[in-house]
Amino acid sequence: MSTPDDPALGALPAEHRLVAGHVPDPAEPPPTHAPTPGFSLASARVPGSPTLPEADPTSLLLAMTRMANDLFSAPPALDGPSTPSALTTSPNVSAPSAPTHAPTPTPTHAPAPTPTPAPTPTPTPTPFSAPLSFDHLSAPTPAFTLPLFDAPSAHEPAAPSPSPPPTPAPLSFDTYEITPTTDLSLRPSPRDPLDPHALRREFPILRERVHGKRLVWLDNAATTQKPQAVIDRLKVYYERENSNIHRAAHTLAARATDAYESARESTRRFINARSKNEIIFVRGATEGINLVAQSWGRRNVQAGDEIVVSWLEHHANIVPWQMLAQEKGARLRVAPVDDRGQVILDEYEKLLGPRTRIVSFTQVSNALGTITPAREMIEMAHRHGAKVLLDGAQAVSHQRVDVQELDCDFYVFSGHKVFAPTGIGAVFGKEPILDVMPPWQGGGNMIQDVTFERTLYQGPPNRFEAGTGNIGDAVGLGAALDWVTRVGIENIARYEHELLEYGTERLHEVPGLTLIGTAPDKAGVLSFILAGQKTEEVGGLLDKEGIAVRSGHHCAQPILRRFGLEATVRASLAPYNTTEDIDALVDALKRLQAGRGAVH
Ligand code: ALA
Repeated sequence: MSTPDDPALGALPAEHRLVAGHVPDPAEPPPTHAPTPGFSLASARVPGSPTLPEADPTSLLLAMTRMANDLFSAPPALDGPSTPSALTTSPNVSAPSAPTHAPTPTPTHAPAPTPTPAPTPTPTPTPFSAPLSFDHLSAPTPAFTLPLFDAPSAHEPAAPSPSPPPTPAPLSFDTYEITPTTDLSLRPSPRDPLDPHALRREFPILRERVHGKRLVWLDNAATTQKPQAVIDRLKVYYERENSNIHRAAHTLAARATDAYESARESTRRFINARSKNEIIFVRGATEGINLVAQSWGRRNVQAGDEIVVSWLEHHANIVPWQMLAQEKGARLRVAPVDDRGQVILDEYEKLLGPRTRIVSFTQVSNALGTITPAREMIEMAHRHGAKVLLDGAQAVSHQRVDVQELDCDFYVFSGHKVFAPTGIGAVFGKEPILDVMPPWQGGGNMIQDVTFERTLYQGPPNRFEAGTGNIGDAVGLGAALDWVTRVGIENIARYEHELLEYGTERLHEVPGLTLIGTAPDKAGVLSFILAGQKTEEVGGLLDKEGIAVRSGHHCAQPILRRFGLEATVRASLAPYNTTEDIDALVDALKRLQAGRGAVH
């Protein structure tokens, strides 16, 4: 990568030097530029409103509830059904005259075993490692303490010195208070029985009929259905809050900003990250892996280095690393799996060495359902000085995820596989690592100051969120994660485990059926082939019975080929599935094998 003092750049006119803007070097001194005057997050907030990133969640909830109660003694309910559930508080969209908001932060996880203190590297102070500070939000003159990522070098022409930012006029907004939609403090006990019938009533789409049959949705590994709570939250967002964020000093911008940042806090809480700055919103797990490969990878992987993945990976966790390896002259190495579909740890360990820069593997296989021994694999990689990305796309909806306990350096997941809308997902990265990672896309939002000579970037997470993000669906993601919390992720894990065992046992009754992926530790997936049947035809015939499964290679061709296959039929579970769904699948397969096909 060229730097501004690259002799080749000296010959270029200034506007071309911008294109070749240099990758920040932690050793550079901090720049002295004042920020471009203009709006900041500071001006997009309601005066006196709590500072979400810093506030204690419980007292915040109480304070806001009190304020809301004072202001709205008899809040009218919004239109729309409220679905009662034995399991959860109903998805409450009833709102006072102010819009209902994402619930106030309350710890998501059931008391976790005290995590082993992660051997997080002590961040070396750098010009851009200062934490994103919100302290200036209430200060009369915004003291811009946002981290500076890039500094003009002495060889650059002197940048025009920006005039000092004007003191913002006191803001006045209509009163807008956040009212918690649900009380996350009423978390279920991990031993509460999960009632899947009550749960499925919260999913309107599960009332659909397909070819005259009850819809049996067993394609959850491809995408999950959305509960009423998420659908309602999106409706409230677009009816009451929609605006761009972080930019303008008007009321809806403040509402949208609060909703978006609340969703970031819900995401942080859900995976137990230390800080909201460690949560970057992206389109999904695929984009998350590409972000890490292109930002961290292009900076840290060089010719002769090695990248380790496992044989279980989804194409999204193979191709971005292949592209990086090809560009850099690095080598991609693959940890093999045994005949049941589990990573062979001894073989994995043999691949690790001084050249290993990063290990990237899945927590749960989308094609087989294998739960990998992630904690152990991460520890082994760290012993060799490698960073670890854990692909949680198939894990977050099935089991408790604690990124501090796992000690992974990066974690990625897609919202749509955990009851949230499509097109939104998250990357977790340890803050000291994100602090020194260059941006991967340039544009608005991610900058602090732009001149034609150079650009100063924001700190994480904003540095990695160029342009207008998927604000509404991020809000939907927050609502989905809060919904899972209310149901109880441990309850989901336990129930799905029982359902998986039931399904495994019942599928053995189908003549000619072979299960692919029989690791002792599995989550949510029943992948199989049927003797004498083409997988796509099985999928089509099941659809005629109202049963949705995926047939094909599941975007994981290497692992299917490991088993000598090009395709399987895959039934995948969610907590709204029931033993009746499994029975419907097994009965349909038995009829198929008896040569009777779909029965209407
Ligand atoms: N990754 C998704 C699946 O496994 C699309 O089906």
